[in-house]
Order: sequence, then structure tokens, then C-alpha cells
Amino acid sequence: MVNNITVKYAFIGIIFAFMFYAFSINHQLIISNIKLIYKPTFYHGEHIHKNYFEGWYYKTVITNESLIIIPGIYKSALPYDGKSHAFVMVIRDGYECLYYRYNISEFNSKGTDSSKFMIRIGQNKFSENEVVLSLPAIRLIQSTDIEYDEYTDLLVKDWSRIMGKGSESKSKIPSLKSSFTRPPFIPYSVRGYISFNDITPYPFTYTHPNVMGIFAYIPFLECNHGIISMSHRSSGMVEFINMENNGIIENRMDLESGFGYIEKDWGVNFPESWIWSQSNKFINEKEEKSSSILISIADIPLVSSDNPLLKIPYLKDFLHFPGRIIIFYHAKSNITYNFSTYNLFSKVIDLVINMDENNPSMQYVQDVKLHVMDISNGLNLEINIKRKFGNGIPLRSPSKQFGKMALMIEESLDAELHVKLWRSGKVSQEEEVIFNDHSIVSGLEIVGNVWWIVSKLSAGKV
Ligand SMILES: *[C@@H]1O[C@H](CO)[C@@H](O)[C@H](O)[C@H]1NC(C)=O
Ligand SMILES: *[C@@H]1O[C@H](CO)[C@@H](O)[C@H](O)[C@H]1NC(C)=O
Ligand SMILES: *[C@@H]1O[C@H](CO)[C@@H](O)[C@H](O)[C@H]1NC(C)=O
Ligand SMILES: *[C@@H]1O[C@H](CO)[C@@H](O)[C@H](O)[C@H]1NC(C)=O
Repeated sequence: MVNNITVKYAFIGIIFAFMFYAFSINHQLIISNIKLIYKPTFYHGEHIHKNYFEGWYYKTVITNESLIIIPGIYKSALPYDGKSHAFVMVIRDGYECLYYRYNISEFNSKGTDSSKFMIRIGQNKFSENEVVLSLPAIRLIQSTDIEYDEYTDLLVKDWSRIMGKGSESKSKIPSLKSSFTRPPFIPYSVRGYISFNDITPYPFTYTHPNVMGIFAYIPFLECNHGIISMSHRSSGMVEFINMENNGIIENRMDLESGFGYIEKDWGVNFPESWIWSQSNKFINEKEEKSSSILISIADIPLVSSDNPLLKIPYLKDFLHFPGRIIIFYHAKSNITYNFSTYNLFSKVIDLVINMDENNPSMQYVQDVKLHVMDISNGLNLEINIKRKFGNGIPLRSPSKQFGKMALMIEESLDAELHVKLWRSGKVSQEEEVIFNDHSIVSGLEIVGNVWWIVSKLSAGKV
């Protein structure tokens, strides 16, 4: 007779079997993750030859302008299919993302000082303290019309599913598709340098070695996240040279007294769906450094998306979970607040995503509301984000499904983000407001069918 205990053991057996499976396919990454556990900034892909990506996200904000630079590497599942490459992406304000492609052999992580993070891609150099750029327009890869069309289809499909609460709502598709504005392609060469002073690394402890907290010790996660600096000041200058227009310097960005932020991702695949938002400049703040916020909520898989175990419907629910990283660095007090999944006292009070199509500008406006609370100290963080759908910049991201760096992300830099941090009063109704401000040049990505995440986290479920 099969009793409950037997079922339980069979179940535990299956879990172990899949963990083993996960182990066996990504063992090089697992070794890197263990070796570099206290050095998340460093390049993890030295000995990984396939199924891998790693990218560093450098953002600098000057008054209301912004510059984002993403150096990285992508190694496809088949090492000789010609898809593997290194890249540098450059995004200036609302312009198209300039995508410079390099050979894998031009990626170099061997600095002169092995105790410090440093990578080189062609003539470009990236470290914790500086970026040196020399990006010739001949390296640019332009997205094709077909790629762009696939990208808009993907976004429309996901939004129809989100608005249809999981199932596609067909009625909205035609008008959604027409809300995209494709940024123009201009062949720029980019050169310059940026230096960073007084970076704010994520506070290290042995139980929370990086921003993933205790999860940093799980070495087989498909996607890993690191913070290099929550907030710092910048100086430097970057020039955009228009090669279509006789090579004139069209724009010289002065990055003196800029505000910066650096994070990174690495692993074998991006999650299937996520909400990511970040800002490191607020309107009313007058501090030398700026406060900074990171929200990253994702459908975290415990096995690869192509793992046959996912085909078993009942099991699927146990093989992924809604994970969140919510970090707010408060500049004035130099305190990093933490409402992430691994902070067991924090809970999501509410998460709502909406698409408003009846606003005066006649454009679809996406709206994200998030309220989290730490029950151990009564701290509350409330975030409101609004952005225009279709106005963002198409970004490439590593995709196992498409077997390449595919256009999959709409990154908005014109999102309106409002952050309020307060402590609820114990006795009286009074609340002590610690921070309450609007940010500028806020990044927002809502990727994939995030309905599952929202349904799990809305109305105080987790
Ligand atoms: C920045 O602000 C100035 C003045 O308000 C405005 O003229 C300019 O267009 C803005 N730039 C961007 C990139 O928003
Ligand atoms: C990049 O790799 C290809 C194929 O291996 C080679 O033909 C080409 O010369 C390389 N380019 C550079 C700049 O190294
Ligand atoms: C801010 O806090 C960090 C530790 O969390 C500390 O290392 C740093 O020196 C502090 N900075 C200032 C300006 O107090
Ligand atoms: C994040 O949360 C955990 C758990 O509450 C805590 O131990 C850790 O110190 C926090 N990290 C920061 C930077 O606040």
C-alpha cells in the first residue's frame, strides 16, 4: 500500500534528482560561483565555454540626462555557431541602444592587479573606478526590421496576457502594436572616459555576502545578481561622433558631478519574467551622494527552462518561486534598507500592475504600485512607477529560447518613480516619514508574462 510517507519520500527523491540534474549541466558556473562567492563583481565566465552570459550595468545621471554602458559577454549553447561574442551597449537618453559587437577573443579579464576587478573589450576598459571607451561605428550591429517586429509582437503578447490575467485578451492587440515608436539608428562612434569616486558597495556580511543575501550560497541559480555601487559621484566626458554626418562630434557629454550606479548579472539564462526598476537621482535631495533604489522581482526557476521535469504540471509549481531584491540606500543616514525575500521579516503588502489607456495623452501608461513592509521594525517602503508603453529602448538579452542575444527588453528611462519610506507608529496613527521623493531618469523593465509574479505577491500573500 502506498502511504503518505512513501509519497513524501518519492517527492524528496525527485527534488534531489532534479538538483543533481541542475548540478550536472552548469558545473563550471557552480565552481565559479563557489570560488568567487566573496567577489561577485569579478568575471565568472573564465572557464565557462557555452550557455553563459555576464554583463555589467554602468549608469550615470547628469542633471536630467543619462548614459548607460553595458559591457558583457554571451556564449551560446553551441560554442562554434558564431553566436558567441562580447559586446558593449551604450544608451544615451532616449536614443537607440548602440550595440557594439566584439569577438570573444577580444574580451580579456586579466588585469595587472588580480585582486581588482577589470575587464577589457577591444580598446575599452571597465573597472570599479573607471570606464574608458573607444567604440568605432564599424562595430555596430543594427537591429533588423524582422527583429524589431518580433520584439513588438513579444511585448504585445505579454501585455495582453498580463491584462487578461494570465490568458491572452485578444481585443487589445491591434492598438497596442501601434503604440511603439522605433528609435532612429544613427551610426555613432563613441569615445571618452568616466571615473567614479566614493562608490557604495553592498554592505558585506558572511550571511549576506552580496545583494542576493543567503541565496548567494545557492550556486546553481540560472541568474545571479550583484551590486557594485548603489551610489557614487562621477567625472569625465564622453563624445558621440556621427559617422553619417562627416564624423562630427555631435554631442559631448560632460559627466562632471554626475551621479552613478553599477550592478551586474551573470548566469545561464535570464528569468522568464521580471520587473526591474532602478533610480539613483531624486529631485529634492541635496546630499553630496544620492539615495538609490533597486527593485528586482523575478520568476526564479530552480531548474532550466528546458528541463523535462517542467513538463509535469503539478511539479512545475515547486520548481520556481517569486524572488525579490528590494534595496534602498538612504544617502543622508548612510543606511541600506533591505526588503528582499531573504529578509524573512519583510513582506509584500501589495503589488499591482495596471495599464491605463484612458489618459489624456492617448497613450498606454503602465503603472506599478508596490508596498513592502518589515514587520520587525515597522518600516514601510512604497513605490509608484508610471511609464509610457512603447516609448522605451529595445535591448538585447541572452535568450536560451532563441539561442542568441535577442531583442526582448523594453527599457524605459523616462519612468516616473516615487519612493516613500516610513516607519508606522506603534501607539498612535502617526507615521515617521524617512524619505519621500520623486526620482529622475528612472529605469523600468517589465518583461515576460509577469502575471504569475503579481498573482503570487499581490494583497499580502508572501
Ligand atoms: C533637461 O531639462 C532641460 C530644462 O528643463 C530641458 O530643456 C531638456 O530638454 C531636458 N533634457 C532631457 C534629456 O530631458
Ligand atoms: C573575429 O573572429 C573572426 C573569426 O574567428 C575572424 O575572422 C576575425 O578576424 C576576428 N576579428 C578580430 C577583430 O579579431
Ligand atoms: C557608510 O556605511 C558604510 C558601511 O555600511 C561604511 O563603510 C562607510 O564608511 C559609511 N560612510 C560614511 C560616509 O559614513
Ligand atoms: C538584508 O536583510 C538581512 C535580513 O534581515 C540582514 O541580515 C542584512 O544585514 C540586510 N542587509 C542590509 C544591507 O541591510
